[in-house]
Amino acid sequence: MIDWSVAESSHNGRVALVTGAARGIGLGIAAWLIAEGWQVVLTDLDRVRGSKVAKVLGDNAWFVGMDVSDEVQVTLGVAEVLGQFGRLDALVCNAAIADPHNTTLESLSLQHWNRVLAVNLGGPMLLAKHCAPYLRAHCGAIVNLTSTRAGQSEPDTEAYAASKGGLLALTHALAMSLGPEIRVNAVSPGWIDARDPSVRRAEPLSEADHAQHPAGRVGTVEDVAAAVSWLLSKNAGFVTGQEFVVDGGMTKKMIYQ
Ligand SMILES: NC(=O)c1ccc[n+]([C@@H]2O[C@H](COP(=O)([O-])OP(=O)(O)OC[C@H]3O[C@@H](n4cnc5c(N)ncnc54)[C@H](O)[C@@H]3O)[C@@H](O)[C@H]2O)c1
Repeated sequence: MIDWSVAESSHNGRVALVTGAARGIGLGIAAWLIAEGWQVVLTDLDRVRGSKVAKVLGDNAWFVGMDVSDEVQVTLGVAEVLGQFGRLDALVCNAAIADPHNTTLESLSLQHWNRVLAVNLGGPMLLAKHCAPYLRAHCGAIVNLTSTRAGQSEPDTEAYAASKGGLLALTHALAMSLGPEIRVNAVSPGWIDARDPSVRRAEPLSEADHAQHPAGRVGTVEDVAAAVSWLLSKNAGFVTGQEFVVDGGMTKKMIYQ
């Protein structure tokens, strides 16, 4: 017998914090959650663009500027959210230095390595640390945006790959530390066309870009947002510590030449 009482029809009143939401996948996740009835706090390093897009998204969007690698800014930002809404139900750690390519290993600076690790891996740890008390109070959930590059690589991507592999490990560690009240999962996107609509129109992807995917196309921000939304919902109440790959099947494809 199915217990339909656990199914959610509405997220009204629930509050989600999405990092790196001024553009791309983070903005897509914020818009998706608002359409579902969440109140969404968008955060980003880019305060100008973040404030602008929050205004466009309407009354259920609110912007807080922060650098996720800076613990003082994270502490103040989370306090601001709690001051405004009095609760927090979901955390989506999406902010990242998202260009996977570094220089060759021989010329990779320790400074660049440390910055990528501080933002892509340190950021989610700091956000989880400072949001945990509030998420626990409402049996909330965390979703970390990792990457299929946590499990496979191109040359000259050491810093990004290491940061996303670390984030996958951080995800299951957090799931053990914060459960049972807080569930923690990861979404690993493959190729997602997260460019602004104007850029997508001006420089469309090729047929070959799409056709190489078993699903027949490159991914969209909505593909990722739908997975994140499900993981945040109570319908995913028995799912924690897991990785969900959203890549159109690319990581299951044999590519011997
Ligand atoms: N687009 C893809 O194909 C793809 C594939 C796999 C994984 N991902 C992951 O998905 C997430 C979003 O990717 P995207 O393509 O939308 O990236 P994007 O570069 O378009 O957006 C990232 C956002 O994070 C913000 N940001 C960067 N550093 C920050 C910091 N220190 N503090 C706060 N905000 C900061 C940026 O200002 C930007 O708005 C990233 O975690 C990325 O690694 C993307």
